[in-house]
Amino acid sequence: MASFQISLLFFFFFFFFMIISNSTAQTSFRPKALVLPVSKDSSTLQYTTQFKQRTPLVPVKLTLDLGGQFLWVDCDKGYVSSTYRPVPCRSAVCNQARSKSCITQCFSPPRPGCNNNTCGHSPDNTVTNTGTGGEIGTDVVSLQSTDGKNPGRVVTIQKLPFTCGSTFLLEGLANGVTGMAGLGRSKISLPAQFSDAFSFHRKFAICLSSNGVVFFGDGPYVFLPGIDVSKSLIYTPLILNPVSTAGSFFQGDPSTDYFIGVKSIKVNEITVKVNATLLSINEEGFGGTKISTVKPYTVMETSIYNALTRAFIKATAKIPRVSPVSPFTVCYNSTFIGSTRVGPAVPQIDLVLQSSSVFWRIFGANSMVQVKSDVLCLGFVDGGVNPRTSIVIGGHQLEDNLVQIDLAASKVGFSSSLLFRQTTCSNFNFTSNA
Ligand SMILES: *[C@@H]1O[C@H](CO)[C@@H](O)[C@H](O)[C@H]1NC(C)=O
Ligand SMILES: *[C@@H]1O[C@H](CO)[C@@H](O)[C@H](O)[C@H]1NC(C)=O
Ligand SMILES: *[C@@H]1O[C@H](CO)[C@@H](O)[C@H](O)[C@H]1NC(C)=O
Ligand SMILES: *[C@@H]1O[C@H](CO)[C@@H](O)[C@H](O)[C@H]1NC(C)=O
Repeated sequence: MASFQISLLFFFFFFFFMIISNSTAQTSFRPKALVLPVSKDSSTLQYTTQFKQRTPLVPVKLTLDLGGQFLWVDCDKGYVSSTYRPVPCRSAVCNQARSKSCITQCFSPPRPGCNNNTCGHSPDNTVTNTGTGGEIGTDVVSLQSTDGKNPGRVVTIQKLPFTCGSTFLLEGLANGVTGMAGLGRSKISLPAQFSDAFSFHRKFAICLSSNGVVFFGDGPYVFLPGIDVSKSLIYTPLILNPVSTAGSFFQGDPSTDYFIGVKSIKVNEITVKVNATLLSINEEGFGGTKISTVKPYTVMETSIYNALTRAFIKATAKIPRVSPVSPFTVCYNSTFIGSTRVGPAVPQIDLVLQSSSVFWRIFGANSMVQVKSDVLCLGFVDGGVNPRTSIVIGGHQLEDNLVQIDLAASKVGFSSSLLFRQTTCSNFNFTSNA
């Protein structure tokens, strides 16, 4: 009896100790923010990022998808991990994912991506607009924390939810990429999961360039030579599109894309006449303006595109034009265009937001694309009639602008061109100070 009590006591002691040491290990270092590098793939113009996943940890390269529902990776080929766990149907994570599907049976030997009674979702390639079904799983993810100035200690999340895609879904993605890093407006997207894991601010920021950066958490967001961009952002409300804009989704799901309320467009301060109906989102989820990292250039509904290009041509009447180079339609002999700190000296384009004093100003570096040594084109693309979204602000227009998404306050902060402040999105100091 006595010996039983002692061992029981010992057992309790041991158990207690384990719990204590376990939670200490988790709380001893709690990052305030995380950081990921961004690279631009020169052949696809996609922005890619990389972090480590699985056990043993391996680097996973992904196409960055600002509006993407969640992280998805190819589980069909080369997914080896001792810590992969399928997410059961009707579990908390399955609920968070708003899944309405349960994969009751998978008719091959169990492996990541193929398990019985597993929560299902629909991973989609938003570059090619293809989707499929796949199971939701969790695995270890590891990346660097940051103080906003440098990367710091590596942190690990034990059970980060993601969706298993298939090898065919990688078609059209950059070389070496094995999935997409969805940063969209959902509870299981990377920003939401990172904020949950470390209880930091539900904010994140992207800063695109050939060598850019993504911050998860609040600022500072510091770029060499020591400029904290988080201190001087302009804010506009985040708008919810009630109808999903994903390639595949469950009926009734809202969009996970980030929409902002563009009210009008100006060229050299003169308002361009556009059909205002197209600028708001209707009951079917058509219209409006969203921000996208998977469109290399801003895409506009045809009548908006035509109105903008007409106004731009008028404002640049003195500059000799040359034959257009696809996918653009308005091109110039660049030897006749001067240069400024913010790129080619051309009329500025303003996306006017909630009031006439709040606008996203696009300067030459973001409006013009160098297609040949002496040819510069207006870097906007015609999106056709009746597109799903009227204006999709794309990568070229986002480069060297920091864009912060504040999920808690439902607003978007943007910096305008960092070139004005003599820095760029390539200027984050990636030397670790851990
Ligand atoms: C799922 O269950 C069926 C029937 O019990 C079984 O034949 C099959 O091997 C299982 N598949 C997996 C992936 O566990
Ligand atoms: C404006 O766009 C809406 C939606 O496409 C369309 O129904 C309407 O006819 C357009 N108005 C004009 C004046 O073109
Ligand atoms: C641009 O203008 C320069 C100087 O007039 C000329 O030499 C060059 O051929 C022009 N380039 C194109 C693409 O028209
Ligand atoms: C980048 O950060 C490292 C580590 O803090 C520091 O030693 C280095 O001087 C920084 N680089 C520049 C150019 O400031």
